Amino acid sequence: MSNLIPENILEDILGRVDIVEIISGYISLKKSGSNFKCNCPFHHEKTPSFMVSTDRQIYHCFGCGESGNVFKFLMRHERMSFPEAVEMLAKKAGVILPKQDNPRIAEAISLNSQLYKLNELAVSFYENNLHTASAAASMEYLKKRGISLESIKEFRLGFAGQSWDNLVNFLRAKNVSLGLIEKAGLILPKDGGGYYDRFRNRIIFPIFDNRDRAIGFGARIMDNSLPKYINSPETPIYVKGRNLFGLNLSKEHIKDLDCAIIVEGYLDFIIPYQEGLKNIVASQGTALTQDQIKLLKRYTNNVVMIYDGDTAGEIATLRSLDMLIEEDLHVLVVPLPAGVDPDSLVRLEGIVSLKNKVEGALSLFDYKLKILKSRHNITEAHGKGKIASQMLSTINKFSNAILRGEYTKRLSEEIKIPEHYILEELNKLKPNTTISAPTVEAAKKPAFEINPAEKLLIKFMLDEKELIERIMQELDPSDFQDARTAKIVSVMHDLFKQGKSFAPSVLMNYLSEDDASQLVCESMFIPELSGQDREKAVTDCIQRIKVQRKKAKREELHLLIRNAQSCGDEEKLNTLIQEFHKLIKKGD
Ligand code: CTP
Ligand code: MN
Repeated sequence: MSNLIPENILEDILGRVDIVEIISGYISLKKSGSNFKCNCPFHHEKTPSFMVSTDRQIYHCFGCGESGNVFKFLMRHERMSFPEAVEMLAKKAGVILPKQDNPRIAEAISLNSQLYKLNELAVSFYENNLHTASAAASMEYLKKRGISLESIKEFRLGFAGQSWDNLVNFLRAKNVSLGLIEKAGLILPKDGGGYYDRFRNRIIFPIFDNRDRAIGFGARIMDNSLPKYINSPETPIYVKGRNLFGLNLSKEHIKDLDCAIIVEGYLDFIIPYQEGLKNIVASQGTALTQDQIKLLKRYTNNVVMIYDGDTAGEIATLRSLDMLIEEDLHVLVVPLPAGVDPDSLVRLEGIVSLKNKVEGALSLFDYKLKILKSRHNITEAHGKGKIASQMLSTINKFSNAILRGEYTKRLSEEIKIPEHYILEELNKLKPNTTISAPTVEAAKKPAFEINPAEKLLIKFMLDEKELIERIMQELDPSDFQDARTAKIVSVMHDLFKQGKSFAPSVLMNYLSEDDASQLVCESMFIPELSGQDREKAVTDCIQRIKVQRKKAKREELHLLIRNAQSCGDEEKLNTLIQEFHKLIKKGD
């Protein structure tokens, strides 16, 4: 990433913005000694382990290991691309970015920002339409569906008129190119040349991303004809299954209540939200995707699924459940009677009824079992087999062994089959299905069983620039046994030789390996040592790394000697043995 924007520009930006100020714009930080801290926005926790350092201009979470500089924060927290984060901070810092050297990237950035602007124009256009005389029927429709005027405003609902070219004419008058409007999916080419509006005579539901940018549109017909909804096609800024409808409005509520209610449709979001159930998002019809779950996980680990009470809804729920478990989310499900959705339930019985159902939501186990029982005969052997195998595929997705054990026991009780048969079936599943969960988990966890001397020495080098020369004389990057520390030291060496700064926040731009930059951040929060203690610690660390280097070398020689012995290569064996003796004699 860093080869696209010159390092000195990145440094310039880093020097002019304050990470504490930027992060404070999104979450509230509390002072803690010379640092700031808060509950980590990247994982759920009750006591703060997310630290931000003013001196170092970095953040690090001791709970989940997430860490980085201010660019990385914006990328993770706001889902910006690296160039977007740079662009935003450059603007803030008053740094002028050089013209992009890489034309393809420059084009992509500018295309995206043009599409956001264009969509915003279209949102306002449709919004204004709704308040004209020609939209009387649509206002009537919205009223009939129980949508208040405040909601119309808040959701920025709109109306696309009858004509084939309302929008295209409006946008052309504003000098927007037809090519761009087509890329936004708002118009379609006519057979005989020219273009026509995609959305006509429909209520418009603008779709925003979690940063309030208009990315696409849903459009509903006002009677029972089909298709009921037309949506924007995929565009460079609208990828289906990447966003959650309404999250821009509900994310703070979800965070505060530490729970997200997931529904399917636009109206299933709007009506409950309007009536006060605000920790809600809509998946827009599809089963949840991995991207949507990841997005949600930034705000909570608890979800309640309320999908329509029809077969499609059930299937979508079942598919989503397994994915939610794989992401270690805690899931409850509200089954609805056939033909009922959250919107119609609230309209018929009031918001209290929906809230009660949320309170009484079923555990995932009970929900899935209930559905399977309705599909298969639980009193008969084949039915038991089918129910067991489908329940087990879900049970097997829990990374927690205690949960797996508990659910296996319950399954045995439910289908009246001794537990050991069920365990036997579960064990058959193990190899294919459980591998991914623990490895992903392991990769996420900070791997800080790292050699403490190596970690400490990195901290000392970052704290005290002068140390690097001494360390360069005594150690080589390859003497560091951990690939991450070795990488950090080698980058520091290079930067030092080029006379460049290697402040932690800058260093990060050179470390693409996540682990390495995480290590830099973590080591920055090791408490300071003063004067003599520090000097002694530096000497100790160097010494330890030397001992470890010697040990590694000895082991390597040992192996080579054994190989040479077994090959009967006398000449090689002699040289190796000499080398081995030399190594043992050497003082350091
Ligand atoms: N959907 C869609 N295109 C369709 C049908 C559905 O994009 N042709 C999406 C919409 O986001 C819709 C959701 O799937 O809101 C759920 O669909 P459905 O349950 O059929 O519609 P409702 O949301 O109940 O719509 P309404 O209440 O307006 O009838
Ligand atoms: Mn509905």
